[in-house]
Amino acid sequence: MEKLVIRGGTKLKGTVIVEGAKNAALPIIAATLLCKSISIIENIPEVEDVRVLLDAMIELGVKVKKTKPNTLEIDTRSIIKNIVDYEDITRIRASYYLLGSLLGRNNEAQVPLPGGCSIGTRPIDQHIKGFEALGAKVNIEHGMIKAKTKKLKASNIYLDVASVGATINVMFAAVLAEGHTVIENPAKEPHIVDVANFLNSMGADVKGAGTDIIKINGVKELHGAEYMIIPDQIEAGTYMIAAAITGGDVTVENLIPKHMEAISAKLKEMGILVEEFDESIRVHIKEPLKNTHVKTLPYPGFPTDMQPQVTALLAIADGTSIMTEGVFENRFLYTDELNRMGANIKVEGNSAIITGVSRLSGAEVTATDLRAGAALVLAGLAAEGETIVNHVDYIDRGYVRMEDKLKALGADIFRVRSEAHQAKLHIV
Ligand code: UD1
Repeated sequence: MEKLVIRGGTKLKGTVIVEGAKNAALPIIAATLLCKSISIIENIPEVEDVRVLLDAMIELGVKVKKTKPNTLEIDTRSIIKNIVDYEDITRIRASYYLLGSLLGRNNEAQVPLPGGCSIGTRPIDQHIKGFEALGAKVNIEHGMIKAKTKKLKASNIYLDVASVGATINVMFAAVLAEGHTVIENPAKEPHIVDVANFLNSMGADVKGAGTDIIKINGVKELHGAEYMIIPDQIEAGTYMIAAAITGGDVTVENLIPKHMEAISAKLKEMGILVEEFDESIRVHIKEPLKNTHVKTLPYPGFPTDMQPQVTALLAIADGTSIMTEGVFENRFLYTDELNRMGANIKVEGNSAIITGVSRLSGAEVTATDLRAGAALVLAGLAAEGETIVNHVDYIDRGYVRMEDKLKALGADIFRVRSEAHQAKLHIV
């Protein structure tokens, strides 16, 4: 099991470049299955979840070639299997996108039930409701979701929850369905708009992505496209917090400031200086961190995927803050780990009450999921002494070379690859 070792206390300084958005890349890669052609996708983040999805697609018959760093040529001209039996696919949540894209392409799909981070029960009833409304029969048998239809037909679908995954899956199944589909109460995250833009660049007719209603006119066929994925809002936000938590001065480059508004607003409320430029944001500190209250909500609300990182920051702010989780039901597991580092966080229902402490202290802690792992690294950067973060594999699912990027900003951080390596480095 790989670990990150952090010796905290350095104020981070410099510039960090943000990668393409993981949660846009995953559905966009899956969407290439909707055509029988070659697509060229740029700005793909080289994270573990993307690798797993690509491996699964290669097993289905897709050909993938890396033409430049972060650029893939994805060839979906061959016959593509309907059944996803790639073993690792259950590790990622985004496996469900293969259900929508294979159903759209082949009228049939069988995909193992999705895995992903343990942050709640994470049902997929809204995906199923959408597929059924479009004319598919859906069953769950032996851990597989099976969807099948003779022909997909347009429909009006009201999503009971504004689910990111369900919105995208319904778009996938509807773009080639006969007729005019309407999705009411869709998710509005930036990656929903990005996926819709990609589908339109393939010849689809999707209108209204990013608003309260999405309208899709089914087309007969889609073609390959060239497309560049948007920057990763969550990676950008994580480095903004890295600057703030260490009292540093960091410019986060290659982001869309509009996507960062909810995060920037909360940092400003804490007394942090956030300067916005065309494609970058500078974060620096002039005064002690103030407390604030945050509630996570679907976009344009505060993103749930930034909840653990901001909680780590609030752990060293003056006064008491309340963090309320409004999207998932069980996303505070990591607070016990922060408390091991001297934080004072009490979880009550879907809220965490955070009483700021003057300093965190290094400890050996374990990532419980992807964003929780990022939060523990951030806490380690601010803590006195040495922090060891176990289960780096979670962090690698969504961050590209996190320790290298932090090191370039001045952090004292390194990865321990094996027990033997650990012994050589004399780490306890
Ligand atoms: C995606 C992101 C994840 C992010 C989340 C919310 C990917 C691969 N993952 O996850 O990083 O935290 O959006 O921004 O892009 N729900 C239902 N029924 C459903 C689907 C969802 O009740 O059929 C509920 C979920 O339990 C949750 C809420 O809706 O409470 C939002 O979930 P959803 O937006 O679907 O998240 P994911 O697509 O799983």
